[in-house]
Amino acid sequence: MKGAIFKLLEDFVDTRFGPDAFDELVESTELETVEPFVGPGNYPPGDLLALVAAAVAAHDTTVEQFLRAFGRHAFPSLARSVPTLMEGLDTPRAFLGGLESMIHTEVRKLDPEADPARFTVTDVDEGSILLHYRSPFGLFPLVEGFLDGIGDWYETPLDHELVEVDQTNGTFLVRFPDHAMTGSIAVVDTVRS
Ligand code: HEM
Repeated sequence: MKGAIFKLLEDFVDTRFGPDAFDELVESTELETVEPFVGPGNYPPGDLLALVAAAVAAHDTTVEQFLRAFGRHAFPSLARSVPTLMEGLDTPRAFLGGLESMIHTEVRKLDPEADPARFTVTDVDEGSILLHYRSPFGLFPLVEGFLDGIGDWYETPLDHELVEVDQTNGTFLVRFPDHAMTGSIAVVDTVRS
């Protein structure tokens, strides 16, 4: 797992639990990694999971709550790290449609060591999609947190739920509530013209 993700975790833990909280966590957790985490590094995914488990135990929360809050916190930093890739992805739906082809594929090209989750999208209707997540890690609450973060980023909350699980892969139903509003504006415009 890329160091960038560990750095985002550090930022989240320090923001939520205090400026030394991440260092304390690292010191109190048995990790394969001995050197400090740096963005370009690549580290065992087990170390990330061990840090999450330790944080949950230390701060009286659940893995689900923790990963979801982490995803929400991390999304703006991820989006700001790739400004040119974000260009043209003007709505949550456009963004999710481009997540694999525009974002994660580019991430893999820029850094051959990076292996982000795979996503595909199936259109359900004008107001919703199915988002299929494929990964060896089954980090479903992290995906839910990223979806919350997308809602914040575009200032348009999304409804989403995990509707299918196949081992470590999963499918989310994502609804775009603002779609209804766009529809009614279109109706008003038609009436006016
Ligand atoms: C502009 C936005 C994004 C960027 C730049 C980005 C980049 C990355 C990078 C660098 C990794 C680490 C890969 C590795 O350690 O090998 C990663 C992992 C991941 N990404 Fe993204 N990502 C973005 C948005 C998203 C969104 C919106 C979602 C979900 C809706 C998502 C889901 C994940 C998940 C779940 C992982 C963890 C690995 C796994 O579960 O297999 N990412 N991403």
